[in-house]
Amino acid sequence: MTKQSEPLSISEQLAGDYQSVFRNKNLIEPETIVNEDRIVGRDEQLHLIINTLKPALHNEHPEDMLLRGPSGTGKTLCAGTVANKTMEIGRQRDIQIEYIEVNGKHKKSEHEAVHQIAHSLEVNLDLEQTSKRGVSTSSRYDRIFEIVNDHLSLAIITLDELDLLVGDTRSKDETPAFSDVLYNLTRSKRIGDMDGTISLIATTNSPKSLMDGLNSRTASTFNPSEISFDDYNAYELTEILDHRRDAFRDGTLEEGVIELVAAVSAQGEGDARFAIDLLRESGNIVNRLEEDAISEQHVEQARSEVEKNYVQDIIQKVSHQKQVSLLSTALVAIHGGRVLDQEPMLRSNRVPSNVGYTLYRWIQDQTSSEMRSKHSYLRWMRELSTYEVIENNRRGRGNEQGMFSEYTFPHLDPESVVRIITKGDKVLSEVIQEGDIIKSIVESNLNEFAS
Ligand SMILES: Nc1ncnc2c1ncn2[C@@H]1O[C@H](COP(=O)(O)OP(=O)(O)OP(=O)(O)O)[C@@H](O)[C@H]1O
Ligand SMILES: [Mg+2]
Repeated sequence: MTKQSEPLSISEQLAGDYQSVFRNKNLIEPETIVNEDRIVGRDEQLHLIINTLKPALHNEHPEDMLLRGPSGTGKTLCAGTVANKTMEIGRQRDIQIEYIEVNGKHKKSEHEAVHQIAHSLEVNLDLEQTSKRGVSTSSRYDRIFEIVNDHLSLAIITLDELDLLVGDTRSKDETPAFSDVLYNLTRSKRIGDMDGTISLIATTNSPKSLMDGLNSRTASTFNPSEISFDDYNAYELTEILDHRRDAFRDGTLEEGVIELVAAVSAQGEGDARFAIDLLRESGNIVNRLEEDAISEQHVEQARSEVEKNYVQDIIQKVSHQKQVSLLSTALVAIHGGRVLDQEPMLRSNRVPSNVGYTLYRWIQDQTSSEMRSKHSYLRWMRELSTYEVIENNRRGRGNEQGMFSEYTFPHLDPESVVRIITKGDKVLSEVIQEGDIIKSIVESNLNEFAS
């Protein structure tokens, strides 16, 4: 009888050989600003950004810019690459230029965003770091202007996904935080008494919400030149990925993998971030399985994970009104499960739009928020279905009683959707504590709708 070998200890396993398909994983990390030789097919946009920033190297103030287009189309990448080069040339010519980036999605308020700008400038320039707490927002602006004035001839500030920086506003009559940020940061241009200046690069997926959200005083001072970025097709995505092959060791990418990743990503939103994430995740799977090369099967395995993250990202990015619409729909799926299963006219896991909208109204009422029409709710849900956050099916009620939409959750279950939306939102977190009330509203409305 052969003696069974002792299982390896944790230390032995950790200390054992490690084989990775990656040679330079950093190349396919989402936030890496790659060099220009890896940027594919954005010549026109790069050219416009270059021409806008170039005056900074000739003692002139650059115009502000607005880079608009869907997710993952290279806005942040192109802005970052050109801004870094501008800094580099500035340094050679003794012109002090600094580039920083702040993302609206990760910031809850004007104060936080402005603090981060001041903080990043302090860190980059090796200055004393001033505290965030106990100081007013206006003194944070003063700090930014002081730094720019004393140390720089230009600060290029990318306000990434700026339309998401709305602050606490819950009705369309309140000015969103981004409008104030833009107004205050353009102060140097209005007053014109500073040695240094600030050039803003705003990026957005939703130029309409951004421009509509500016109050009149901001609209008259923020006049950016607009540069537009489109979705990529499968061919362009293949090219983008091809330029990053050296992220992998030789022979670890089976034939057809890059094309498959590109095709899957082009089918969705034509988003290069999705494509790069999918390729990286496929590599992670191969490493975890201790296999040698990435095959099409690994891509399929990675796909659902990446899709989940993608949907989560979309949910975090859409407007508050869309989030509440989605939250209401998810709560109907959760609390209405029994009735949806039992009522012959209804279908399991499918939320009828009418009941979703009723719950939307209840939530808006509870939170004293602005109530929008059913038409808006239906439109937002349709939009969310194009991002595959939900699936939208139209069907008739029978007896010529008209049509309605039914919503399902293909990638992320309703519980996760609720968690994502309520996380960090105190008001909505409190509302969903009322489980019994929500359940009774949902059940009675589903019953009524089905009768
Ligand atoms: N034309 C391109 N060539 C090479 N890589 C690209 C190109 N466009 C995008 N990428 C890569 O895709 C990813 C997403 O790009 P980026 O972050 O610039 O998108 P974005 O337009 O800013 O998206 P979002 O609106 O979501 O912020 C990055 O990793 C970037 O390097
Ligand atoms: Mg971006």
